Amino acid sequence: MTKFTLNGVEIEVDNPAALPLRWFLREQRGLIGTKFGCGIAQCLACLVQVDGQPMPSCQLPVSGLEGKSVTTIEGIGANGLHPVQEAWIAG
Ligand code: FES
Repeated sequence: MTKFTLNGVEIEVDNPAALPLRWFLREQRGLIGTKFGCGIAQCLACLVQVDGQPMPSCQLPVSGLEGKSVTTIEGIGANGLHPVQEAWIAG
């Protein structure tokens, strides 16, 4: 089991093994703001923050997140839209 914080909420994931964070976010949590591009940590379409640092989630196993804090694009902008969210909407 791996415990970590996702967008301010503490969660537990059973048996994450080598499950990539990007897959977990989109397929198991419905957080589709994290995109998939290259899958080899080059394009940064899957970027999230881990303990405040930008990290490509496609190469980051959930099992390595014990005690860490993950923020996706859905988790920013607690007081209205964040400038990054506004930029995505503006396209
Ligand atoms: S999908 Fe390209 S860096 Fe993760």
